[in-house]
Amino acid sequence: MTALLEINDLGTGYGDVKVLHGVSIALEKGKVTAVLGANGAGKTTLFRTIAGLLPCMSGRVRFQGEDIGVLASHKRVEKGVVLVPEGRLVFPDLTVAENLRLGAINVRARAHSDDTLKTVMALFPRLEERKSQYAGTLSGGEQQMLALGRGLMAMPRVLLLDEPTLGLAPGIAKQIFSTIPELLDFGLSILIAEQDVRSTLKIADYGYVLENGLVGITGDGESLVRSPLVAQAFLGH
Ligand SMILES: Nc1ncnc2c1ncn2[C@@H]1O[C@H](COP(=O)(O)OP(=O)(O)OP(=O)(O)O)[C@@H](O)[C@H]1O
Ligand SMILES: [Mg+2]
Repeated sequence: MTALLEINDLGTGYGDVKVLHGVSIALEKGKVTAVLGANGAGKTTLFRTIAGLLPCMSGRVRFQGEDIGVLASHKRVEKGVVLVPEGRLVFPDLTVAENLRLGAINVRARAHSDDTLKTVMALFPRLEERKSQYAGTLSGGEQQMLALGRGLMAMPRVLLLDEPTLGLAPGIAKQIFSTIPELLDFGLSILIAEQDVRSTLKIADYGYVLENGLVGITGDGESLVRSPLVAQAFLGH
């Protein structure tokens, strides 16, 4: 089966500093795929390159068989490749509703934005309650829900979730983790980077460990949880 999103031998970095040295990963449709790795391993760099916010210096990014590695970021969003960035990055001086509407500015999503908004509000009732509130005054957990909601407004086919529970209280993080598999019901596929490796591997169908800009261990969620190398590096035993 061809992968929905295929990253082949991807290399990139910042100026002369190379961060990814030939990363290959494949994401199957309707699945949750995890990218694990220590701080600084290159997870955010990978996600930003897939989204078109950083140049693909070598290698390829293919989506539905098409080489999208040369396309501008907004063109990739139009095709359904949508990043929910690390640190949420909501617009603090806009309301919840305005932030959500901005998620749907691409042509394909705009036509359906009223319906998608209802779906997002049903998924996150907290956002409905706070739709007129400025995003900057939301709690961290609520901002993450807003960032996820804004991503969904773009009608993604692949959602790139970069550290969706970073800095959140355990209860809220749990809530976010339980929502992620529900998102698959919308017909999308998920690539997730997370520091909570145990919770991530519970919901991931497949995972890749990034080490020094290269893919190290790979495997399905269960085999990675059982892997002594993963346990030693990330699970604290
Ligand atoms: N704008 C930048 N300019 C120069 N170097 C950068 C820049 N952003 C990131 N880097 C470097 O690239 C490497 C990978 O960073 P990246 O943010 O991709 O890691 P990460 O795996 O997402 O880490 P974390 O778990 O802390 O989010 C790091 O060594 C970092 O210092
Ligand atoms: Mg990161």
